[in-house]
Amino acid sequence: MIKINELTKEYYSGSERVLAVNNISLEIEDNEFLTIIGQSGSGKSTLLTILGGLSKPTSGSIIVDDLDIYSLSSKQLARFRHEYIGFVFQSFQLVNYLTVEENILLPLSITKIKDKAQKSLAEKCLASVGLAGKSKRLMTELSGGEQQRVAIARALINDPLIILADEPTGNLDTETSAAIMKIFFDLKSFGKSIVMVTHNKDYAKYGDSSIELSDGKIINQTGYTASRLHENKAV
Ligand SMILES: Nc1ncnc2c1ncn2[C@@H]1O[C@H](COP(=O)(O)OP(=O)(O)OP(=O)(O)O)[C@@H](O)[C@H]1O
Ligand SMILES: [Mg+2]
Repeated sequence: MIKINELTKEYYSGSERVLAVNNISLEIEDNEFLTIIGQSGSGKSTLLTILGGLSKPTSGSIIVDDLDIYSLSSKQLARFRHEYIGFVFQSFQLVNYLTVEENILLPLSITKIKDKAQKSLAEKCLASVGLAGKSKRLMTELSGGEQQRVAIARALINDPLIILADEPTGNLDTETSAAIMKIFFDLKSFGKSIVMVTHNKDYAKYGDSSIELSDGKIINQTGYTASRLHENKAV
């Protein structure tokens, strides 16, 4: 479970102070699919990067499996990211001059998994996103939707428990976006927790629950998971 406690992040742009995340508290269950919506500048990406251990909050804490992640040393935090988190971005963030397989294996470059095992793992991840047999292609030889699938496969290579996605369909057409959403939806059956930022309110419905941010605050919260409903009833 992920616990977000009174999280605040402020940025200074010159002398101007921006409260990008303003005192957010939230719990995300294991295997929950949470979507985050909200207008541009409402703090969605900031919240996601803090969740992923990429940006230290100004105050508040993130507890993952009883681990206060920002109390870890930077080395421990890097290890946490490696073991727990898979990131998918709107702009894919893939390396054009590498092949599909090389891109997927990038996160493993610091581990000691043997070459052959890595390759079969890469094939498995590619198959799970519907790209079996395309491992030797260059990125430039793929469509946008296929590139995003590679990015998802790369996020899966460490078998992380938590997948964080920042507008993964933002650069894709409607049909391709629906296919990508289905892949995320299917990831739930592998026990992953998914937190996805999306501009599209229809896609938000793929999740179990959704929050809407405005000026760094949660202004709407819908679709509690069954267990949380149960907890609420018990109180
Ligand atoms: N590195 C930074 N330095 C200063 N201000 C920042 C920085 N990153 C984000 N901000 C500001 O923090 C606020 C929240 O930004 P954030 O990127 O989290 O919004 P967002 O909801 O993801 O927006 P979008 O939908 O456009 O991606 C904005 O006002 C933004 O200008
Ligand atoms: Mg953003």
